[in-house]
Amino acid sequence: MRNCIHILLNDQPNMLQDVGTGEMLLDFLRQKKRLTGSKEGCAEGDCGACTVLVGRLIGKELLYEPVNGCIRFLSSLDGCHIVTIEHLRGYDGQLHPIQQAMLDHHASQCGFCTPGIIMALYALWMRVAKPTREQIEQALQGNLCRCTGYEPIIKAAQMVTQATDWPRSDPLLEERQRVKDQLKHWQDDSSIALTKQGDLGKEHIFIPKNEADLAELYAQYPDATLIAGATDAGLWVTKFLKTLPTLIHIGQVPGLKRISQTKEALILGATASYEEAMPVLLDHFPMLKDYLLRIGGWQVRSMGTIGGNIANGSPIGDMPPILIALGASITLKSKQQEREIELENFFLDYGKQDRQPGEYLHAIQIPLPSDKSHVTAYKISKRRDEDISSVAVGFNLIIKDKIIQSAHIAFGGMAGIPKRASHAEQALINKPFTQENMIKAAEKLTEDFTPLSDMRASAAYRMKVAQNLFRRFYLEHSAPQMDDKTGEAAQ
Ligand SMILES: Cc1cc2nc3c(=O)[nH]c(=O)nc-3n(C[C@H](O)[C@H](O)[C@H](O)COP(=O)(O)OP(=O)(O)OC[C@H]3O[C@@H](n4cnc5c(N)ncnc54)[C@H](O)[C@@H]3O)c2cc1C
Ligand code: FES
Ligand code: FES
Repeated sequence: MRNCIHILLNDQPNMLQDVGTGEMLLDFLRQKKRLTGSKEGCAEGDCGACTVLVGRLIGKELLYEPVNGCIRFLSSLDGCHIVTIEHLRGYDGQLHPIQQAMLDHHASQCGFCTPGIIMALYALWMRVAKPTREQIEQALQGNLCRCTGYEPIIKAAQMVTQATDWPRSDPLLEERQRVKDQLKHWQDDSSIALTKQGDLGKEHIFIPKNEADLAELYAQYPDATLIAGATDAGLWVTKFLKTLPTLIHIGQVPGLKRISQTKEALILGATASYEEAMPVLLDHFPMLKDYLLRIGGWQVRSMGTIGGNIANGSPIGDMPPILIALGASITLKSKQQEREIELENFFLDYGKQDRQPGEYLHAIQIPLPSDKSHVTAYKISKRRDEDISSVAVGFNLIIKDKIIQSAHIAFGGMAGIPKRASHAEQALINKPFTQENMIKAAEKLTEDFTPLSDMRASAAYRMKVAQNLFRRFYLEHSAPQMDDKTGEAAQ
């Protein structure tokens, strides 16, 4: 095994051996490298002040994503290019065009959020030369500005495209080939083991590069913390000040990232991020667009994985309700065995899942919908963006000749685990799809759930809003579909 990691920081190659299990990218930048342009606002992935870009090779292509440096483990970045605000520049000592546009449009007051906002916008322009307002707003979902207000920022973002010769006026384009060559030079299949003497004892970090090594390491260290995107686990370090003696990063195992499809199912590798999974999910389930775009912000969706959202066992994760409603199953693997179970059976009780020592989540299988499937998910939260659900629901009804043939409805936030609304489902089967029947089924939710009151919502609010979502589903799915061309109700 290799005993170091390589990262390219702006234009500086780094070989690192002495990395601690709790060392975050932002601390490394600010404290060790004195690159203090990236700020720490919240240290929990919420504000985006720490946004930097992480570039990695996907085949021959270099893909840059915005990430929250505050919760990104430094040790997860082997073979990556980190771009910080200090690296941005224009030609001949000028500002970078995005920086100049922010200046021209008075888009910065105290300036604390500004480096993070510029990095998020830079990531956007690498992909879309002329983004729409909607795309700009999505790119900034994970960046909070509390004094300027967003209009000048959006205006600046729109104006960058009018700068002469954009995006060719970006001098960083010239370094892309060099960066690719450097990352290619570092690429190998060797798994990595780092050891450091920490204040409380030895710290071990493992970065397997294939599934055999992962299974072997997890069998050997069943108490190790598996790290995928770290958008949950990072906070244990930064907010709960937990010491994690042994980490196994699973994000560099190609078999766990794979997304594929058979005639019957879509198969998502457990470490596929939201950003990676979203295009294929939306191909089959276009109604989920708004829902998926309300998970975290761009940074969180670039880092966070679907597998992590399941494996964390949270009763308020957004993916389990809709995946359960879709009839998804999961594959669990360990050194000894491989097994497939229904996702709904994975959640046993609050904080308890059907996962044995040494077992990890390998993939999620999602049956493809029929043309009679009506699939939707709704999220209720206090804030529109970057908020955790008070209630989330996934609906999957098969309706033929206006009769409900089958109903799969699962909720998050209504019990200690994500759970199906069995009584409500039963009340719908073989019934005509009418508002009255949907409302009657919604009343059955009191037999399915006894929700709790907490800081997000009261029990009474949760029940009321959950019932109202049945009516919303009816209204959205009973309306005649409009013909795109004629604008009239389709037959
Ligand atoms: C600012 C912010 C906003 C967020 N917004 C939302 C939101 O809107 N909706 C939502 O649902 N969540 C949200 N989250 C929570 C988080 O992003 C998701 O739960 C995410 O999917 C977790 O995935 P991850 O890869 O980052 O998991 P990690 O943090 O890497 O891991 C989470 C847990 O799962 C375990 N684990 C991960 N992968 C595996 C595997 N393959 N096998 C076994 N165990 C595994 C880890 O050991 C750990 O216990 C948010 C988080 C932040 C910081
Ligand atoms: S410091 Fe707020 S997201 Fe990182
Ligand atoms: S300029 Fe002050 S927070 Fe955005």
